[in-house]
Amino acid sequence: MASVFITGDTHGYVDRSKLERENWPVQNCLTKNDYLIIAGDTGIRWDNSQTDGTLTKRDQDMIGWYSDKTFTTLFVDGNHDNHRALNSYPVTEWHGGKVHQLSSSVFHLMRGQMFTIEGQTFFTLGGAVSTDRYGREEGQSWWPEEMPSDAELEESIANLKRINMTIDYVITHCCGTSLLPCLLSFHYDSDDLTCFFDQLEFNYKLSFKHWYFGHYHRDKTIDNKYTCLYNKIEQII
Ligand SMILES: [Fe+2]
Repeated sequence: MASVFITGDTHGYVDRSKLERENWPVQNCLTKNDYLIIAGDTGIRWDNSQTDGTLTKRDQDMIGWYSDKTFTTLFVDGNHDNHRALNSYPVTEWHGGKVHQLSSSVFHLMRGQMFTIEGQTFFTLGGAVSTDRYGREEGQSWWPEEMPSDAELEESIANLKRINMTIDYVITHCCGTSLLPCLLSFHYDSDDLTCFFDQLEFNYKLSFKHWYFGHYHRDKTIDNKYTCLYNKIEQII
C-alpha cells in the first residue's frame, strides 16, 4: 500500500531543507509509489523559460532535485510559483484529475480537480493572494494567475457536485476566511479565494475528513479538521 505525506511551502531553495534525508529520514523507506504532497509555494518553476524555450539551470536543478527523491512529488500551486511556466505544460490526466507533469515523478495538481489515491479522494485548488505583491514585478516574480479564474472556480463546484460535495481530503494553499482569526498571521486579510472556500464549506456544505493548507508559514491544527502546514510533514495515508 502506498503512503501519502503532506507538507507546507518549500519556496525553491529557501525552505526545502525539511525534505533533505537527514531532516526527513522516512524517505529512505519510500518508493516512487509513495507520495509527498506540497500545499503550494514550491517554487519548483520560478524562472521563465529561456529564449530558446529551454529551462534555466535553476529550474532544471529544482525539477531534478525533486525527481531524484525516492518518492513522487505532487503539489498544488501557491502564490509564489510561476503560474505561466506551470501552465505551459500540456494538461494530462492522472488518477482522475488534470495535472501538469514536470518530470516522471513531479506533478502539479491543477485547480478544481479531484484525484483518487489509495481509494481516498483529494480535491485540489491552489492559488492565493501575494501580500508582498508590491515589491514584485509582474511576469518575473509575480503573476496575476496566482488567483483562480472564474472558470477554475466553476470547474471546482461542478466537479464537487458530481460527487455530492463529499471528499476525503481538501488540499489548498490558503484557507477559508473563517479560519483566519485562528492563524494570527501576517497573511490575515480575507479575499475572494478565502471567501470562496467558506462558501464551499458553509453554503455548498462541502463534507470532508480533513483540510490541509500552507501559505501562513506556521504549523497548526485547528479543531482536528484543518491543518496549516509549514515545516511539519504529516502522513495522511
Ligand atoms: Fe509561502
